[in-house]
Amino acid sequence: MANLTIRKLDELLKAELRQRAAANGRSMEDEVRVILRDAVHQRHGFAPSLPQAGGAAAAEPVPDDASPDKHEAFSASKAATARVTLIVGGGIAAYKAMDLIRRLKERGADVRVVLTKAAQQFVSPLTASALAHQRCYTDLFDPQSEFDAGHIRLARDCDLIVVAPATADLMAKMAGGHADDLATAILLATNRPVLLAPAMNPLMWNNPATRRNVDQLRRDGVAMVGPNAGEMAERGEAGTGRMAEPIEIAAAAQALFAPPPRPLRGRRVLITAGPTHEPIDPVRYIANRSSGKQGYAIAAAAARAGAEVVLISGPVDLAAPDGVTLTRVESARDMLTAVHAALPADVAIFAAAVADWRVASEGDQKIKKGAGGPPPLQLTENPDILATISKLAEGRPKLVIGFAAETENLLDNARAKLARKGCDWIVANDVSPATGVMGGDRNTVHLLMKSADAATIDSWPVMTKDDVARALVQRIAQTLEVHA
Ligand code: C5P
Repeated sequence: MANLTIRKLDELLKAELRQRAAANGRSMEDEVRVILRDAVHQRHGFAPSLPQAGGAAAAEPVPDDASPDKHEAFSASKAATARVTLIVGGGIAAYKAMDLIRRLKERGADVRVVLTKAAQQFVSPLTASALAHQRCYTDLFDPQSEFDAGHIRLARDCDLIVVAPATADLMAKMAGGHADDLATAILLATNRPVLLAPAMNPLMWNNPATRRNVDQLRRDGVAMVGPNAGEMAERGEAGTGRMAEPIEIAAAAQALFAPPPRPLRGRRVLITAGPTHEPIDPVRYIANRSSGKQGYAIAAAAARAGAEVVLISGPVDLAAPDGVTLTRVESARDMLTAVHAALPADVAIFAAAVADWRVASEGDQKIKKGAGGPPPLQLTENPDILATISKLAEGRPKLVIGFAAETENLLDNARAKLARKGCDWIVANDVSPATGVMGGDRNTVHLLMKSADAATIDSWPVMTKDDVARALVQRIAQTLEVHA
């Protein structure tokens, strides 16, 4: 069969091809393959390739027949949403990497496989290319792909690089910045996220040198999945070092190449949570049973949705959710000060169970038990944070949401609260002891939304507090979008 040399094409054609290849994010060589393949497809009545199918279509050999099987493979690659460069290291787990190719493709990835020299002792390039439906790469000095710096393309013309199995040696080379073969050259030249699935003997995994390399790679921003604990391929050996299962690696990869939507990106969300402690004297206080779980779950969900989240929390036993700025306070007055300091915000959610009253004159010293009987505790009203922020003339968040924790007449009380406090929504929940909501993990809520005449009520089924948080965040995102 005659060879086609791009360099020998006439200049005009080359310029056209260069532009088309650049627009589709392919090499010129791959663009030619796509054009030829589309010509074959059109002859057989198939739809042409989508531009974003880039790499997938790119390296596929042009079919010499148009069997239904091949059509299916092409369709799968056309649906590709991400391009993954999979580097297979030389370890017994390399055979599992062949299954990983299929798992990644199931998730819509177009997979280009690179086999190290050692990996080829365990699996063949033929197996990898048959599963990936495209050629597989093995050599840094491959005239076919290196004429246009193929290793740079494999390093950058993708959304993610997965290394599975990541052997101790490959990780050591990565940590040290070596680039003496195709795999390490790609890893050094990439500006894409990298996910490693380490696999090695437990003694190698626990060796101080590997520990150092793992730490270094984590500091360099490399993601890892596994290794898992279990039986080793070596007879009688067990421990941590088994490569994560292909399905786990594919899920970790998908989280990186197709991160969940972030509908609150660019929004600032302020949340209060937990109880307040109202001092009686330096050692005693008035409190309530709020666990803070619902407010913390909302903060976590908002952060996952891409918001900049400020969580102002009363005393609870919960850790700050990832990506959330936490300010801890004690009393209602401290909470109000912290809320003012955290403004402006697009959304304010007041999930805290703020004490309605505090002791009018807090004792400077511990109040002593005396002959005069118990001290009279004169109470005074606390500032209403929700009402204060709802009624701000200037700097009011676009959406102000309060909570109504009630033990009776839930909806009537919640409706009255919505009107009285001036907020936009009220999340009402029954907190009578029988419901187990206080401190529990589940919640049944009704969302009351202020409308022109009366409130619209949306009653949700019993859900975990995490699910309530997710649903609320989704509703907030939709509302902000509509009123943007
Ligand atoms: O009046 P009640 O305490 O039932 O109101 C509940 C709602 O008002 C909650 O959103 C709570 O965070 C908020 N609230 C407040 N400041 C108070 C009392 C309640 O922000 N002092």
